[in-house]
Amino acid sequence: MNAVEVTGLTVRYSGATALDGVDLHVGEGELVALIGPNGAGKSTLVKALSGLVRPAAGQVTVRGRLAQVPEGREMFGDLSVDDNLRLGGWRNGRHGRDTTEIYRLLPGLDGLRRNRAGLLSGGQQQMVAIGRALMARPDVLVVDELSLGLAPLVVTELVGHLRTLNAERGLAVLLIEQNARLALGLCRRAYVLEAGRVVLHGPAGDLARDPRVTAAYLGGDVTAEGPAR
Ligand SMILES: Nc1ncnc2c1ncn2[C@@H]1O[C@H](COP(=O)(O)OP(=O)(O)O)[C@@H](O)[C@H]1O
Ligand SMILES: [Mg+2]
Repeated sequence: MNAVEVTGLTVRYSGATALDGVDLHVGEGELVALIGPNGAGKSTLVKALSGLVRPAAGQVTVRGRLAQVPEGREMFGDLSVDDNLRLGGWRNGRHGRDTTEIYRLLPGLDGLRRNRAGLLSGGQQQMVAIGRALMARPDVLVVDELSLGLAPLVVTELVGHLRTLNAERGLAVLLIEQNARLALGLCRRAYVLEAGRVVLHGPAGDLARDPRVTAAYLGGDVTAEGPAR
């Protein structure tokens, strides 16, 4: 059973085609990567998954709850970390706004509860954005540009959290990344999106060795490591 199923998805912005017949799926509890250059349509896919853009054609099916970590994190900068997290739980009603569990899952946030989100580092803000998404108690987490603008050490920590959430809670993750090395290292399966079309997909290990991927996304390094298993 798939958590997310996308078939023939086409999205247009006032005439310009951003997605052109995209087929993609994420299995229950699966980690899947979506890589591709700037402007390929990755964020448009995220918006179609969360219902923020309406497809011109095709279908999006989500089983269970989907939450997204949007590109650029979109903090409420004047609000505290805790208030930002609570906003992620607004759909759950009054009892859904308890943030205790999030501080257990992401202990790095614990000491920052009352800090203004806008004053945090990029990595801390990304952690808040992940925590806020988790407040919706999702079955699928879509992360749009996890590593953008963050220091490698911070990225490693965030990836560790995603791995743990996947392994221990069966959280399915669709990881959208410009850093192909990172994405193919974390996920078992991956898609390559270019100009609104899926041009390649398959096991991440195979893609990491595919000359088309190594040339365009891995700096021509044909000895790229496969995913950790
Ligand atoms: N709101 C919008 N209105 C018009 N064009 C847009 C809009 N959002 C994105 N686009 C265009 O759609 C294409 C895909 O954008 P996007 O999904 O943001 O790509 P990516 O996330 O892969 O960088 C780009 O050509 C972009 O300029
Ligand atoms: Mg984008």
